[in-house]
Amino acid sequence: MSESLVLERVEGRVAILTLNRPKALNALNDALMDALGEALLRYDADESISVIVLTGNEKAFAAGADIAAMKDKTFEEVTREQFITRNWETILRVRKPIIAAVAGYALGGGCELAMMCDMIYAADNAKFAQPEIKLGIIPGAGGTQRLPRAVGKSKAMDLVLTGRMMDAQEAERAGLVARVIPAESLMSETMDAAMLIASMSLPSVIMAKEAVNRAWEGSLTEGVRFERQGFHSLFATHDQKEGMAAFMEKRKADFQHK
Ligand code: CAA
Repeated sequence: MSESLVLERVEGRVAILTLNRPKALNALNDALMDALGEALLRYDADESISVIVLTGNEKAFAAGADIAAMKDKTFEEVTREQFITRNWETILRVRKPIIAAVAGYALGGGCELAMMCDMIYAADNAKFAQPEIKLGIIPGAGGTQRLPRAVGKSKAMDLVLTGRMMDAQEAERAGLVARVIPAESLMSETMDAAMLIASMSLPSVIMAKEAVNRAWEGSLTEGVRFERQGFHSLFATHDQKEGMAAFMEKRKADFQHK
């Protein structure tokens, strides 16, 4: 039997998904993206899970869309198949936080996949690029849109037009990644953060993710309005009463995720 394209592991309330095409540096094809989408939606619906970590291996998070699989496709085919958008953006339907733990190459669609996660923790050997220009194409999974929002127009233009690689330190300075971590402790530090988030009340975690995404996608006025409604609505939860009571009683909150 062939090995799964996405490996799965659960620790506490955290699901860890590992892209698993190491011989092709985790190049992303439809089968892998279907498997990833299926696993993401399954864990999103699983009440025992609060956080998802998406990772690759030490050499590559993902080196982009599978060039071998797409090189002979025609315009008619990519349009009819809705190539890239058909199954790549399932990740955007996930309401729970997704942390991308990136070591090695995150190129093209790999960089775009990392940017569709909620935050990126980068190993100090991570390398990010949108090298599509060198293939005679442009990014097709959001790179020209999410990269400028993350790093600003000038640096995004530099990266998209030259196709050059950016190391983890530059990516952190530019605001693309949340943390740079020594490669050997990438997973342990990522898991510490994931476990910490998973220990919070899940309704407030989901609301916080959605509110921050409003800042990313919409206007300030609408975002602040959404945040206020979300803030008020959390007063309907058990965990708000428990969290505040625990603070007053100087004890640790016992969140029930409801
Ligand atoms: N698609 C298909 N196969 C890929 C691949 C990709 N994106 N990236 C790497 N591979 C394969 C190689 O073909 C090679 O396979 P073989 O052993 O069968 O020859 C194997 O992975 C190892 O790769 P290399 O021998 O090239 O390894 P390296 O260490 O010399 O170089 C690299 C590593 C710099 C990442 C180089 O592989 C590379 O430049 N890869 C392509 C990166 C790229 O252009 N990505 C963008 C793709 S387009 C896209 O993603 C569109 C979009 O917006 C969604």
